[in-house]
Amino acid sequence: MARHLITSAIPYINGIKHLGNLVGSQLPADLYARYLRQRGHEVLFLCATDEHGTPAELAAAKAGKPVADYCAEMHQVQSDIADGFRLSFDHFGRSSSPQNHKLTQAFAGRLAEMRLIREVTEEQVYSKADGRFLPDRYIEGTCPNCGFESARGDQCDNCTKQLDPTDLINPHSTISGSTELEVRETKHLYLRQSELKGDLAEWIDSKKDWPILTTSIAKKWLNDGDGLQDRGITRDLDWGIPVKQGDQTWPGMEGKVFYVWFDAPIEYIACAQEWEDAGKGTDWERWWRTDKGADDVIYTQFMGKDNVPFHTLSFPATIMGTQEPWKLVDYIKSFNYLNYDGGQFSTSRGRGVFMDQALEILPADYWRWWLLSHAPESSDAEFTWETFQTDVNKDLADVLGNFVSRITKFCRSKFSEAIPEGGSYSAAEEQLVADLTTRIRAYEKHMDAIEVRKAATELRAIWVLGNEYLQANAPWTTFKTDPETAAMQVRLALNLIRIYAVLSAPFIPDASATLLAAMQTDDDNWPQDVGSALTALPAGHAFTVPDNLFRKLTDEEREGWAERFAGTRD
Ligand code: MF3
Ligand code: ZN
Repeated sequence: MARHLITSAIPYINGIKHLGNLVGSQLPADLYARYLRQRGHEVLFLCATDEHGTPAELAAAKAGKPVADYCAEMHQVQSDIADGFRLSFDHFGRSSSPQNHKLTQAFAGRLAEMRLIREVTEEQVYSKADGRFLPDRYIEGTCPNCGFESARGDQCDNCTKQLDPTDLINPHSTISGSTELEVRETKHLYLRQSELKGDLAEWIDSKKDWPILTTSIAKKWLNDGDGLQDRGITRDLDWGIPVKQGDQTWPGMEGKVFYVWFDAPIEYIACAQEWEDAGKGTDWERWWRTDKGADDVIYTQFMGKDNVPFHTLSFPATIMGTQEPWKLVDYIKSFNYLNYDGGQFSTSRGRGVFMDQALEILPADYWRWWLLSHAPESSDAEFTWETFQTDVNKDLADVLGNFVSRITKFCRSKFSEAIPEGGSYSAAEEQLVADLTTRIRAYEKHMDAIEVRKAATELRAIWVLGNEYLQANAPWTTFKTDPETAAMQVRLALNLIRIYAVLSAPFIPDASATLLAAMQTDDDNWPQDVGSALTALPAGHAFTVPDNLFRKLTDEEREGWAERFAGTRD
């Protein structure tokens, strides 16, 4: 048994995430965490909200709320939705926690001590009316490139050109609208990550088993020159973690906060402290400090591909730079994008299905199954309502659901609501045990390797084996001439339901719980030996026929949803 630390990229606080975000980190992380727990490993699965930065401040202003209140509310909203999707975090923390404030400041202090932080004087736009500097999105004006009138300080949304706030024509503050702007000098801290280039390159090179998507992005940024440039880690904002070195003030840094991408990954660590402080566990350092037992922890991170540079370079640089015994990540599982119906999911235009809406229209398992079985691993993937309807109807209703309902109903009508007695295996059953064994071992292999799609394909094939067995051996026909043999076939199939519940739990935990409840057992032991797993429920053991596990999605529903989610979210 091993100890596994698992983190999912922490979602920004502003707004509710769409299904593409979900399948790119939280959902596969949950799949893996659930699987490892079932296999008897010790797991700490952490996620949090990423609460700092201009988008949080702007969203709060738009909602007309103080930013702290806005974040507290949105944290609760995201936490409830995560529960709705059955994301089994051991703790869902907040990057704005006191624990993260302290830890982020301690990291900065230590990095300064190691001479890895330098001060840089820059020119920035200052608004007199607002009494503050206007970073990134706090300033808008006309794009010098295309003439678009609402270009932002960091980028023009019309022509996508990257901009500096000082490039804009007729710039104004997005806070007050004031055009009384001037350029002033201000000081910022830079992390000298270029100093760590050699160490980072060696570390990445040693990760031979990482997914190609992860290492190719890491190496591109490492070698392209720009990727490892020293990076500004402070901002002129009110909301964030005040710039201090440990407990000490930082001369010249009064009124400044750390850049959101500096403190967000540190929250992975602080979140373990929050977990302990919330009384959910003890000894958080056992998971994070290699001098306190974390050297035998296996740490896996999940994220979308846009997050890879921060997790392969910047955050490891932060950790390595301290020369303190913090745990470094062992495996980074990254994902491509999920597209929506011929285009992209778009948060700003409300295009596609968002997590809250998904749960309004169908239970979590439908989404979990479809999304995970189409996880964008080797390339981008696409959500269409046609494939969603077809796959859910086929895999969940026709294959798994039908198997369960056929055999439980048949047993109830011909025998009773208890596992029937009599009969013994012949060649067909021996073959089924052999086939199940092969496929279950393959399923385990893919789950261990976090090959999500392959695991889903294998699980589906395991469900199909049961249907094929019933089809070929037809206990309803056997029953007429040989009720003893029919009893054996039914007993085997009912036991298979329990095995399906156990194997399917990482993908569809609710259906799995329903099946175990229907079989009136809490034996959720993994089918190590398939032959004996098929005898777990003995003759005479009572069960109930479960309600329809999965319903079929109709054409009208599909059309209605396609229309509803095409446009702007209201
Ligand atoms: N909030 C970021 C995003 O959604 C992810 C942050 S991950 C962490 O893209 F490393 F910073 F924690
Ligand atoms: Zn432009």
